Amino acid sequence: MSVLQQNFQINFQYNIHFTEHVFSLQNAELLYMLKMAQQPGFTQRLLFVIDEQVQLLHPSLTSQIDEYFKAVNTIQVVREKIVIAGGEMAKNDLNYFNQIIEAINHHKIDRHSYLIAVGGGSVLDLAGYAAAVAHRGLRHIRIPTTVLSQGDSGVGVKNGINYLGKKNFLGTFSPPVAVFNDYHFLTTLTDRHWVSGISEAIKVALIKDGRFFEWLEEMADKIMQYDKAAMQYLIERCADLHIEHIGSGDPFELGSSRPLDFGHWSAHKIEQLSAFSIIHGEAVSIGIAIDSLYSFLVGSLAKDECIRILNLLLKFKLPIFNEILVSGANIQALLGGLQEFSEHLGGPLTIMLLNAIGQGYEVHEMNAVKIEQALSLLQKTYVDQERYELAEF
Ligand SMILES: NC(=O)c1ccc[n+]([C@@H]2O[C@H](COP(=O)([O-])OP(=O)(O)OC[C@H]3O[C@@H](n4cnc5c(N)ncnc54)[C@H](O)[C@@H]3O)[C@@H](O)[C@H]2O)c1
Ligand SMILES: [Zn+2]
Repeated sequence: MSVLQQNFQINFQYNIHFTEHVFSLQNAELLYMLKMAQQPGFTQRLLFVIDEQVQLLHPSLTSQIDEYFKAVNTIQVVREKIVIAGGEMAKNDLNYFNQIIEAINHHKIDRHSYLIAVGGGSVLDLAGYAAAVAHRGLRHIRIPTTVLSQGDSGVGVKNGINYLGKKNFLGTFSPPVAVFNDYHFLTTLTDRHWVSGISEAIKVALIKDGRFFEWLEEMADKIMQYDKAAMQYLIERCADLHIEHIGSGDPFELGSSRPLDFGHWSAHKIEQLSAFSIIHGEAVSIGIAIDSLYSFLVGSLAKDECIRILNLLLKFKLPIFNEILVSGANIQALLGGLQEFSEHLGGPLTIMLLNAIGQGYEVHEMNAVKIEQALSLLQKTYVDQERYELAEF
């Protein structure tokens, strides 16, 4: 009998740039980043994957991209841009995955080339997955264009698509080589997408940074009035808390704990139950409401703090309940989400709850009766899509 031991470390490092007009000729950040990675004698080939909605609302984007790189003879941009329908559909329909893989093959994108994805979290998750599995991993740059993707999904290390009806069933841990958060893209977001990503900021504040939660309370009105500076701070603080957690803990989630998924065990299920008409950020908001109220019901979170959390979600016009959670069958399916959550992670079920605003703790089981109680309290609060008021509980 003999044993050979293999042992090596790989160091990952990438920068998240906060910028505006990334493809303006006056903005050299992206060019500089590529230049620093340049190997003598090699031409860097770039394949762009673009969210269709972004392309439509920023019609000069593709010509700007071509113009931006035109004068650089060590960089070759593939002329054809791969345009993918935005939203969860991008992750649900395998044809989009195939489309990117075929383009990678057709345009001979190799492991020294770059796939640059411009879009919301869904297109980035899909493009990141395609980049990670083609040729066992292409270099990948993300240019997130939504609040959620600039503050959370685009700055982390995960990608994925939905498969067998399950969220993110296929995916990898695969850090990008760089991220460029271009605030200009946010100017075309719908009201709905302006607020939906804020739930991820509230989530990370709740488990890690009570001061940030207070800041969100103070700035909510300004953010709802589209204050640019306030939103930029929200995104940067949200991204910072996410990357700090990822870098200092368990980046590839080898354990069973996933604190950044506070509120997500139900959120993923709610998205599916609504056939994705409830979008991720909104589902996370409902998930936060459920787990905050649950934390109050099991005695770990003070009532006034629970009310502050629900009020903040309501201030951002984020949902805290949806009528799909009234039917008994859907409630059972929701409870099944706990099981799916632990199957996804493996090991013992581990759920983050709250001790206080800014402080989470983990449990390994949840009480179904108390979850249902939390749901019925939230239902009392829910009036209709236009009018949210907090019921007495
Ligand atoms: N990988 C991760 O770690 C991680 C973390 C959190 C969330 N996610 C995933 O992110 C996805 C949600 O991302 P999202 O909230 O960015 O939504 P999204 O990508 O689904 O985009 C929402 C809509 O906004 C459009 N859009 C994108 N940018 C726009 C812009 N600048 N102007 C106007 N419209 C624009 C899209 O085309 C789409 O119609 C979910 O699939 C979720 O599971 C992944
Ligand atoms: Zn999320």
